[in-house]
Amino acid sequence: MATVNLHYLGLVCLLAVTATAASQCYRDAGQLKRVVQAQEECVRYLRIPCARLAVYNKFIYPNDAETQCMVRCMGLNLGWWNDTHGVQEAAMRSFFHPDPNDCDYERRTYRCLHSQRLDRPAPHDEACERAYESFRCYYEHYGNLVVTPQFVRLNALQQLDVLLQCADMLQYPMPDRSFSCARTHVAGAEGDFDCVLRCYMLRTGLYSENYGPNLDRIYVQCNNYANETLFRETTDACYRRLRSDCQDECTLIARYVRECFPAGGIIFLESLWYLRLWVQLR
Ligand SMILES: *[C@@H]1O[C@H](CO)[C@@H](O)[C@H](O)[C@H]1NC(C)=O
Ligand SMILES: *[C@@H]1O[C@H](CO)[C@@H](O)[C@H](O)[C@H]1NC(C)=O
Repeated sequence: MATVNLHYLGLVCLLAVTATAASQCYRDAGQLKRVVQAQEECVRYLRIPCARLAVYNKFIYPNDAETQCMVRCMGLNLGWWNDTHGVQEAAMRSFFHPDPNDCDYERRTYRCLHSQRLDRPAPHDEACERAYESFRCYYEHYGNLVVTPQFVRLNALQQLDVLLQCADMLQYPMPDRSFSCARTHVAGAEGDFDCVLRCYMLRTGLYSENYGPNLDRIYVQCNNYANETLFRETTDACYRRLRSDCQDECTLIARYVRECFPAGGIIFLESLWYLRLWVQLR
């Protein structure tokens, strides 16, 4: 009896460890972050007195220069702020949860942004204040702050980094560090590159083998689709169509990446372009 229990316990532990490991590697390159985590980092980087963090962690943001710049830093950290272009809407929305009975939250938020001219590009010199006021518009009008970790968009460099790591892990032909032309490879067909794209999608957490594309994250990563409903409908329909077409998962994902995002890809084109260029240089 004792042995059976022990075995059972062992199995449970093993399952728990496996589940943890899976979720761990899921967020390996694709980053999930909480508001409080971003705040804590920004307080440290900006050398704001530690006592202030306790206030921010209650989600109280006094209107002073220090807090304004902390909010800008948090926005950059979580991917919802850009000094030139202001609020990155898809990312910002993922950090707020609207009241289900509230039909007017979007309009109120836009009116708030518009009335302070926060809905158009502006000079960099008021960046802290603009980030702070933009955040306030969402905080006061859009919904409740989401405290659970949310997906943070990868920038062009991070995307390239993941692509290069995947290429390396899959032994996709890459130039060596000196960009020497001497290295030759037998591999390098289009099909191999499709598997590099599959690895990229898995590693960033934009796709999982069990659940397919993660549209919440992909919407944030794409960042340039205004109508979320339309985005979800079209990309999902496109995916379903390809899934019935494609036998091979590498082909399926590569075609998904290439064909289902007409208004701008999941992956920065320049990242792909660099990778191709490097491959050609070998
Ligand atoms: C701000 O956004 C624009 C347009 O998306 C982009 O080209 C630029 O690189 C961004 N700036 C920073 C600092 O990320
Ligand atoms: C977004 O797209 C959906 C589905 O096509 C459409 O019904 C809705 O009116 C659109 N919303 C806006 C604000 O354009």
